[in-house]
Amino acid sequence: MASDLQKKAVTFVIFLGMVILVLSLIPVLENWLRTAVLPEFGLVFSKGWGLTPESAELPMHVTYAAVLDAFFHIITIVLWMALVIATVRFVAFLILRTAYRTSSQPEVFSLLKTVSSIVIYIIAFFVIFQTQYPDVPLSPLFTGSTILGIVVGLALQETLGNLFAGIAMQADQPFQVGDVVAITNRGTGVVESVSWRGVKVRTFQNKLLIVSNAVLAKEMIEVAPKGNLNARIVFFNTVYSASPANTIHRVREAVRQVENVSPKLRPVVRIRNLGDNGIDWEVKYWLEDYKKHHDTDALVRERIWYVFRREKVDFASPTLVIQTQDKVPEIAREEKVNIRSERLSRVSIFAPLSEDELEQLAAASNGRIYAPGEAIVRKGQEGTSMFVIIRGSVRVQIPESTYQKTLGKLGEDDFFGEMSLLTGEPRSASVIAEEETEVLRIEKDAMKPIFENNPTLVQSICDLIEERRIQLAPETDENVEETGSSRKGVVVRSIKRFFGLN
Ligand code: CMP
Repeated sequence: MASDLQKKAVTFVIFLGMVILVLSLIPVLENWLRTAVLPEFGLVFSKGWGLTPESAELPMHVTYAAVLDAFFHIITIVLWMALVIATVRFVAFLILRTAYRTSSQPEVFSLLKTVSSIVIYIIAFFVIFQTQYPDVPLSPLFTGSTILGIVVGLALQETLGNLFAGIAMQADQPFQVGDVVAITNRGTGVVESVSWRGVKVRTFQNKLLIVSNAVLAKEMIEVAPKGNLNARIVFFNTVYSASPANTIHRVREAVRQVENVSPKLRPVVRIRNLGDNGIDWEVKYWLEDYKKHHDTDALVRERIWYVFRREKVDFASPTLVIQTQDKVPEIAREEKVNIRSERLSRVSIFAPLSEDELEQLAAASNGRIYAPGEAIVRKGQEGTSMFVIIRGSVRVQIPESTYQKTLGKLGEDDFFGEMSLLTGEPRSASVIAEEETEVLRIEKDAMKPIFENNPTLVQSICDLIEERRIQLAPETDENVEETGSSRKGVVVRSIKRFFGLN
């Protein structure tokens, strides 16, 4: 940059010196021609328009002399204009150089440079012209000449329109070089340059789209600013049997790893619609470099395909499912009961139960699935069932004045909901699924025969209920532990009463 400046400065100074030298030589040359050369041809200088013949009989010489005179004037004007142009350009270069380094909006300076340079050139031309031809009145050019005005006005109509639209746009600064813009009815691409005439946009097919400012001012422009985290949305679908929680988790993780997807914001995966053929999804993610959004979108789709293939999630395709209601095969039902009773045998409170009792309980239970964040039971509700966690995890919470206090987390083979089931009291806490969670629900009616056959079971469940109750009681309640044994007796009695046991 420094060498560039030096080069420009040296060129400028040399040019300046040469022009000034020529300008100072012109009067000398003119004088020499006037005094030494022209008289040889019988010509002399007169005031006003320069040369006049000594003799009226030499009309050709008159013409030559007048041309020579005009030549000196024009040369002088041209040289002065060159001087002005060179100076303006050099000064503009110095200003722009600083502007490009310090300003975030260098295009504004570029536009201002063009406008102010044109104004300076026009003024300089008139001033220089007037010094050479002081007798030619220029004011009518500005005041009297309607025709000239109309001609110039018409000629510059487009240009001035663009110029003013450009100025308005720069004041507004809706976009800058490097931003991605979508101009309605014109195209989409990256802004390559902004000038007083219009903008150049490099389309994604690597073509150059040139739109004049006047046209641009009338169109709707969608801007994805360069330094902004601009979002993209890609659609996909799954079959109805695919678990939403699983889909959300897998797609989010897959998209997160795609190059150019910003790690600053977590991709959002959500259901758009429950469509005819399956679940319609969208994933929204934010890009580091929006210019590459086509590539990133493609990569996102690709990754979704791979993750679905790995996780055995199927894309939905137009299908017509004809469902016939078959009787559930006996063997399948038996298998299900076996699996369930095996799971129930792992639950601590059911350890004393016989195989038959477990099977009885398994046959009476039914499986349910919950989404992450879904409440399985809510505090205060009536409840006549208890739950065993088969897959996933839950948190038990009670509302405090300003927040939800978590009492504990339960995972596979844990159970909850036993308090209401056994005592008939409202639910003591809310139980929320932390992830996709499958549970086995057991109703009161299924428990009654179990209690009748296992009187000790009531006692062991009471111990556990009491333990959980201590945690449920407010910390200030000092009597909870002291009165533990008498409270246990109350629970045992209430269970027996509730189940009609002796
Ligand atoms: P229930 O009152 O029917 O409904 C809410 C359930 O949360 C409750 O039964 C218990 O199973 C469970 N629960 C209550 N308190 C605790 C605790 N401290 N730890 C674990 N589970 C609890």
